[in-house]
Amino acid sequence: MNILLLGSGGREHALAWKIAASPLADKLTCAPGNAGIAQEAELASLDIADHAAVIAFCKANAIDFVVVGPEAPLVAGIVDDLEGAGIKTFGPTKAAARLEGSKGFTKDLCRNNNIPTAAYERFTAAAPAKNYIRKQGAPIVVKADGLAAGKGVVVAETLAQAEDAVDMMFAGSLGDAGHEVVVEEFLAGEEASFFALCDGTHAIALASAQDHKRAFDNDQGPNTGGMGAYSPAPVMTAQMQQRTMDEIILPTLRAMSAMGSPYKGVLFAGLMIGAHGPKLIEYNVRFGDPETQVLMLRLMSDLVPALLASRDGMLKSFDLRWYPDPALTVVMAAKGYPGAYDKGSVIKGLDDAAGIDGVEIFHAGTKANGGHVTANGGRVLNVCAIGKSVAEAQAKAYAAIAKIDWPDGFFRRDIGRLAIEREKKSA
Ligand code: AMP
Ligand code: GLY
Repeated sequence: MNILLLGSGGREHALAWKIAASPLADKLTCAPGNAGIAQEAELASLDIADHAAVIAFCKANAIDFVVVGPEAPLVAGIVDDLEGAGIKTFGPTKAAARLEGSKGFTKDLCRNNNIPTAAYERFTAAAPAKNYIRKQGAPIVVKADGLAAGKGVVVAETLAQAEDAVDMMFAGSLGDAGHEVVVEEFLAGEEASFFALCDGTHAIALASAQDHKRAFDNDQGPNTGGMGAYSPAPVMTAQMQQRTMDEIILPTLRAMSAMGSPYKGVLFAGLMIGAHGPKLIEYNVRFGDPETQVLMLRLMSDLVPALLASRDGMLKSFDLRWYPDPALTVVMAAKGYPGAYDKGSVIKGLDDAAGIDGVEIFHAGTKANGGHVTANGGRVLNVCAIGKSVAEAQAKAYAAIAKIDWPDGFFRRDIGRLAIEREKKSA
């Protein structure tokens, strides 16, 4: 079949790598893609926010199946539009994508269905939000309702920080995303990312991962989209995975179906694992970035039949096989990220680095320029490795980074540290 993948990040490079390896994929096209994806797929320069253009491209190129990477087109209803035009598409409809598109929607769904999550209230004006904050006390968490590209959450340690966050959001600094604000209880515990593939009714657990969100070592500096990840997350024991399926994922699918908006696609649960088990921090309606990079390295089975089964409602007796070995990825970002950064610097040594056994390099913001690969975004490369232990995967990833010559980039040197300390303790 002819498959079209939408997106241009490291997540999409990992998906392209896995899809291109499928015997079902006769031809893979990616729009808009990046320099790394160009090694796996033909690139098409399409504006993926222009749904009519995507439909016209699919018709002109006999596309059989579309896989949507990022959340913005999902929340904007690209699945409804493509399916409406008769094109099979992997991912949730606009109504189902509210699980990521509106935090208030998801919080109410949790409250109405006894899904464990932080206690909260929704607000459309600053004064009542601030009253609630003063009543609850700090630490407390303030969130913009809508999509805010990772900038919509303030974990406030003091009342003043929380009240400033409320003012910032209602002042419109996050645009439309801040027209409504959710204030919620601060949850203590260990975070994990959990992924389930859903077909409207059934869900199968994929794998778990842990992400490193802060820009600098020892979790210092600003929040980012993610500076590294590893899979599996040790805190997600078999029992914790089962509880997450039973207490969070499956009740969500039942509630979405009952509402007339069944959820198909990958459901990414951001979890806080505390003394009482898993609580939902938030849902994303797409694969995680950079978690997908490590998930795809560990996936033994063909991805394409799983994505098709999700779309077709056929996951009931589906099974996926995984390599037990852990995988780890270190993000190389442009100096200045997540703030302002330059584009266009040349990156060398990639082939050498990728030559290390078990190493795979997935590109995020890169561009092919003449014979060179140049930086073209904030997060630029994902240097990934699989090994017998997290320590081995980490050693391989950093050995690969040592071969990459890119003075304008930076990366964290402690990806996987907690998991490696755990490995040492249990050895
Ligand atoms: P989100 O964009 O909702 O994933 O939030 C970004 C980060 O803020 C999460 O990964 C957590 O580290 C933190 N966070 C969000 N909500 C809470 C909460 N209720 N309690 C503690 N930390 C939180
Ligand atoms: N790594 C977190 C995310 O994809 O949102």
